Amino acid sequence: MIVTTKELFQQAYGKYAVGAYNINNLEQTVGLFRGNLGQKNSNDDPIDARRSAPFIIQLSRGARGYTDKRFLEAMIRAAEEIFPQAIFAVHLDHGTEEAAYDCIDSGFYSSVMIDASHDPFDKNIEITRRVAERAHDKGISVEAELGMLGGVEEDIAVDAANACLTDPDQAVEFVERSQCDSLAVAIGTSHGAYKFTGSQGLHFDRITEIQHRLPGFPLVMHGSSSVPKEWVDRINKSGGKLGSASGVPEDQYLPAARLGVTKVNIDTDGRLVWCAVYRETFRDKPEDFDPRTPGKPFMAAYADYIAHKNQKLGSAGQLENVRAALTGQPV
Ligand code: G3H
Ligand code: 13P
Ligand code: ZN
Repeated sequence: MIVTTKELFQQAYGKYAVGAYNINNLEQTVGLFRGNLGQKNSNDDPIDARRSAPFIIQLSRGARGYTDKRFLEAMIRAAEEIFPQAIFAVHLDHGTEEAAYDCIDSGFYSSVMIDASHDPFDKNIEITRRVAERAHDKGISVEAELGMLGGVEEDIAVDAANACLTDPDQAVEFVERSQCDSLAVAIGTSHGAYKFTGSQGLHFDRITEIQHRLPGFPLVMHGSSSVPKEWVDRINKSGGKLGSASGVPEDQYLPAARLGVTKVNIDTDGRLVWCAVYRETFRDKPEDFDPRTPGKPFMAAYADYIAHKNQKLGSAGQLENVRAALTGQPV
């Protein structure tokens, strides 16, 4: 069942975060659905209610252009049929105004992100408001972004680092004037595999301040991958060359969720799982050239990883509560 992010956030706010996972291909799609239903190896595996979670599938502009957006959209439609128990939103990640309209007009997406965070404050509001009006006419939720994500490094002076973070006063004005339904905020994270050089983490003081000014309003955390050492090591041991990297400590997801961080974006971690499994498979079976040989263990590993992430986000086990709230069906 495809629902809006707004509907998911109403259930999750302050209690847990909903995982927003990027996908690009068939194996990621299958692993994602199985993982969110607590399945592992097969679509016929029994559904594990304790591991079942509502989730958000997000498609970046890069993913939509990788082959043809219709392939991805068709896979999601197929998955909806194959996994009728799943409850999820279909979301455009980091959309331009043009991409947002394309998704809104398609009738398929239930949520779009308009990312005008690189534009000046007033222009960001103007663009977001135009997108919000068009999306809301069709019942589609809108995420916007305020602040600048970046590689906040340990050796940058605190003031310079803080200058990138979302300003809480601006956040209030932005939400009021832009009519967005959720706001991506810069709270210390950055995209990709190289987020922190040491043991830094989220700026909880800043999240707390934003929540105080915007009580009940869902915040979004981009750049939330934790870049587990285990997966980086596996990649490097099978021929990869990733630098020493670290991401958002998983134990910080739930405390952030309690402060209103209701959507947690994860892409890089999924790519690490993909890379490790494919590299190891072909290293261990050099005579093999069948795309299904790495695909099968990848789908199982990714499903398992998603189930693990959902536990850290607190969304694991929430699927039936969400269903009951949205459909009136008893748990
Ligand atoms: O925030 C960006 C996401 O990780 C998507 O990355 O544009 O390479 O698909 P991508
Ligand atoms: P990561 O690179 O940390 O996975 O962040 C993904 C993201 O924010 C997608 O919008
Ligand atoms: Zn992002």
